[in-house]
Amino acid sequence: MNTTKMKSVLMNCLAEAGALLKKNWNKPKTIEKKSELSLVTQVDKAAEKRIIQIVRKSFPDHAFLAEESLPFGNSDCRWIIDPLDGTTNFAHNLTISSVTIAFEYEGTVLLGGTYDPFRDELFFAQKGKGSTLNGKKIHVSKTKKLGDSLLCTGFPYDRRNDPDQYLRIFREFLMTAQEVRRLGSAALDLAYVACGRLDGYWEFKLQPWDKAAGILIVEEAGGKFTDLSGNPAALTGVQSVATNGIIHAEMLKVMKPFKNTCL
Ligand code: IPD
Ligand code: CA
Ligand code: CA
Repeated sequence: MNTTKMKSVLMNCLAEAGALLKKNWNKPKTIEKKSELSLVTQVDKAAEKRIIQIVRKSFPDHAFLAEESLPFGNSDCRWIIDPLDGTTNFAHNLTISSVTIAFEYEGTVLLGGTYDPFRDELFFAQKGKGSTLNGKKIHVSKTKKLGDSLLCTGFPYDRRNDPDQYLRIFREFLMTAQEVRRLGSAALDLAYVACGRLDGYWEFKLQPWDKAAGILIVEEAGGKFTDLSGNPAALTGVQSVATNGIIHAEMLKVMKPFKNTCL
């Protein structure tokens, strides 16, 4: 399928929604709770509305899976949208947030883009054509050992129901990796694996919109994305592990005892 027009619409959406995030940074916000820990601001909602509006203008028949709306449309062409990934950071005016959008055709993500408006960094991948950062090719790191690796993770919003399952794995990596970070935007975590700033990343219970673009960006940059058993992870899967490929087996080995409990 020719995705030239989709790509330009996707870029336009990232730019417009990104500008909204930047404009509203450090301003008073309306913050609501979707659950005990999950926040949503009026900027998440406005950015999503604008993205859907832009896409529908060019593709009125396409389907949508967007975080702040109910899924809608019935088409082989689907847009998977997180208008603001890193809402907790944004609500606190911590500038680690992004807009992340994927275009999927017949169940395969063909285009993925993640834009960080605060650093003006645009990560983009097209299936079979590699990944770029602001137009320049990117590649995963060449780090060979887990002991030399900088890892990153995140924690799901329902973590207080059973925090220990996540903390046990976190502890294992504190003891085996060079360092572990928690940045607060899964889409950027994946983009950073793709461009080699991070060597590996794991998280549980990501939603399709958190990772649809990021998986393609990692894979097209030469990296690997699987579940804890090493199977290619489905968008709806609970377990996410992304690495430079080289340290993948070592990371999975550390997490092996947890592969049937963190589900
Ligand atoms: C969240 C962020 C965070 C991750 C959570 C996600 P949101 O998305 O990506 O880093 O740890 O699992 O839900 O709610 O800010 O769009
Ligand atoms: Ca998200
Ligand atoms: Ca979000």
